[in-house]
Amino acid sequence: MSTWANLGLQDSASPLMEQLIFFHDHALLILVMITVLVGYLMFMLFFNSYINRFLLHGQLIEMIWTILPAIILLFIALPSLRLLYLLDEINEPSVTLKSIGHQWYWSYEYSDFNNVEFDSYMIPTNELENDGFRLLDVDNRIVLPMNSQIRILVTAADVIHSWTIPALGVKVDGTPGRLNQTNFFMNRPGLFYGQCSEICGANHSFMPIVIESVPVNHFIKWISNN
Ligand code: CUA
Repeated sequence: MSTWANLGLQDSASPLMEQLIFFHDHALLILVMITVLVGYLMFMLFFNSYINRFLLHGQLIEMIWTILPAIILLFIALPSLRLLYLLDEINEPSVTLKSIGHQWYWSYEYSDFNNVEFDSYMIPTNELENDGFRLLDVDNRIVLPMNSQIRILVTAADVIHSWTIPALGVKVDGTPGRLNQTNFFMNRPGLFYGQCSEICGANHSFMPIVIESVPVNHFIKWISNN
């Protein structure tokens, strides 16, 4: 989860998020190189006193500074496209979880295991335990197995919500009348926190998501006792 003064991305807990971080760093590096170059050129203009009254065009330099940025953009576009298709790939999921956005809580359905269903509300600040996280902890967590492909179906009952977990690289809108699909693979155990990220009304900030990533045998025990 994100803690104080953390302005970068959270540590990844899935292969897809790892790829997203690599892409972010790659794009940022290109951005820094362009900014430094253009910044240097603009700064140097202040000190340039050369003037040429007859200079009206330069075919070669204009050709170069048109094509060069286009080639640089390709170095961003192609990895971006690769990631886009990778994110949409579904690899025979072993568990499917349906999450439904409401004003203002999430409800979950494990439709292929005993039809387990429950609501998940944020714990209000005045009811929080000493080790709880304010505005992030919920009364009923989602329990899911690690090292397994998991499919998430997202929808909403009233207005548009968004099911977002930064550490897993997942962000899907829940829209009334539509069923959206995504998938992820958690490669470590732990608690992964997320929040709604579509402005959905007065309590938009107070409908967090908590995933408890556990070993598969622990998940089977949990789902059969529900
Ligand atoms: Cu639900 Cu914002």
